[in-house]
Amino acid sequence: MIKAATIADVKKYVRECKKSGKSIGLVPTMGFLHEGHGSLIKRARKENDIVIVSDFVNPTQFGPNEDLEAYPRDFDADCRLCESLGADLIFHPTPEEMYGKSNYSKVHVDKLTAGLCGAVRPVHFDGVCSVVTKLFNISEADRAYFGQKDAQQLAVVSRMVADLNYNIEIIGCPIIREEDGLAKSSRNTYLNEEQRLAAPVLHRALAKAEEQARAGEKDAKKLCAQITEEIEKEPLAKIDYVEAVDWEELQHTDVIEGKTLFAIAVYIGKVRLIDNFITE
Ligand code: PAJ
Repeated sequence: MIKAATIADVKKYVRECKKSGKSIGLVPTMGFLHEGHGSLIKRARKENDIVIVSDFVNPTQFGPNEDLEAYPRDFDADCRLCESLGADLIFHPTPEEMYGKSNYSKVHVDKLTAGLCGAVRPVHFDGVCSVVTKLFNISEADRAYFGQKDAQQLAVVSRMVADLNYNIEIIGCPIIREEDGLAKSSRNTYLNEEQRLAAPVLHRALAKAEEQARAGEKDAKKLCAQITEEIEKEPLAKIDYVEAVDWEELQHTDVIEGKTLFAIAVYIGKVRLIDNFITE
């Protein structure tokens, strides 16, 4: 597996791949990889000749009061995982390499970024869309893989690609969970023992609602109230939001009509966790 730290090295490699007509799958990550990321790499491995994983803690998607420096990192472990899953190249640039001395351009997606996590993280999705655009251009990937774990991110990136005619296919992949249902996340490492035991309440609450939605319940407002009630039973949990939105435009809805995203963000202590399900 090639370890590339510069944009020029990735572009050189990509040029060679393209010359021989190979397809490229990209898995954008911020590193500290776990089985959730691993599932995207495995899927990319199946569907492409070449797999590129980017491993970059992107400063522009962190707000001023979000702790960029504290974000967990372990590049050696990331390399081992990527290699074991058959990735061809891992791209691990510095922020200076990615953004140069100055950068005056960004990509903004309206409307879909206004609610859910965007409401409390105003610069977040501009940062995501801009870095993902750079990664798409650097890798010239045919397909890029994103987890449904970050459902709003998946919807926003898919919308950006559709609106601006990017030549790339966005593939959404299912949420990978711990045995007790907690969605795998780099942030889980911030939880102490007691908080870790409380954290599965997110999935427990969602799973009950999902079952009812599957059985034909159309009242999204009622399901959100039930999710809220279930989470409030856990003393360590503090709700940021519990919301149902349509999957197309991520706008609030009280009824399930077509694909509906039930998304939640909950603080367990100081750790903000997210989870969701999407109805058929
Ligand atoms: P990061 O949080 O590292 O996540 C990288 C990818 O892994 C995202 O598409 C995310 O949805 C997916 N992922 C994380 N946990 C998952 C799980 N439990 N199951 C399935 N997929 C999971 O998301 C980012 O990085 C950044 O915003 C990025 C897109 C790389 C731009 O900087």
